[in-house]
Amino acid sequence: MALHLLLPLSLSLICATSSQSIVQVTTSVDHKIRIDDNLYCDSWRFSVETNDAGLWQKIPSRCQMFVQDYMEGARYRSDLESVASFSLAFAKTIKIGPDGKDAWIFDIDETLLSNLPYYQLHGFGSETFDEASFNQWVDLAVAPALPASLNLYNQLKLLGFKVVLLTGRSEAQRNVTGKNLLYAGYRDWERLFLRGLSDKGKPATVYKSEKRQELVNKGYRIHGSSGDQWSDLMGFAIAERSFKLPNPMYYIA
Ligand SMILES: *[C@@H]1O[C@H](CO)[C@@H](O)[C@H](O)[C@H]1NC(C)=O
Ligand SMILES: [Mg+2]
Repeated sequence: MALHLLLPLSLSLICATSSQSIVQVTTSVDHKIRIDDNLYCDSWRFSVETNDAGLWQKIPSRCQMFVQDYMEGARYRSDLESVASFSLAFAKTIKIGPDGKDAWIFDIDETLLSNLPYYQLHGFGSETFDEASFNQWVDLAVAPALPASLNLYNQLKLLGFKVVLLTGRSEAQRNVTGKNLLYAGYRDWERLFLRGLSDKGKPATVYKSEKRQELVNKGYRIHGSSGDQWSDLMGFAIAERSFKLPNPMYYIA
């Protein structure tokens, strides 16, 4: 009996000592990642925020709780504050001209306004996006401000920037969007761009680049741009500095 128990143990010892130590290390890290959802999901979040993951459709099911904890916890707010403070530090280096053409662009959803109350009821992005139910939420016009963004918005205005809002929301949602922005505390934006009929079906990067080009053609200097999606920031007529806000819930190409 004792021999039976000892035999497999001594065999595994022989295997372990005969394999390369580097292989042993790799195997143990891989194993740790496979069993530790928190570590796996933190790395997943890094890859989606840096756009290393590129287009992704849904949160990995093992990361649903991780995303919920992130979105509802202190880390999301802390990340937003960090981005906002770097944005403001850059803004303060800009010399504002007398012509009123120094612009800063903001996206709206998950940048100025938080749709977290909606996503709390819809799996934090783990469910397939349902446009009809999301639009019903938009029509309520009660999305709260992201506090760090509201503060940045107000500071930029005090510095003399013209704030331009550029959203993938449709022109049909102009009134409720303005109403929601006012409800959340935003005031006195220079322009509000929404998707018109001619923008339908355009990739977000193309639509947003075209609107920025429009501003540049009107003589605006786009110093900064803030958005939770890479498609808010990439393309052409890009800002001097782009600021990516966190969003591990969904990706818009
Ligand atoms: C929305 O429409 C109503 C009715 O036309 C108007 O009174 C209100 O000022 C509009 N709100 C915004 C924010 O544009
Ligand atoms: Mg957004």
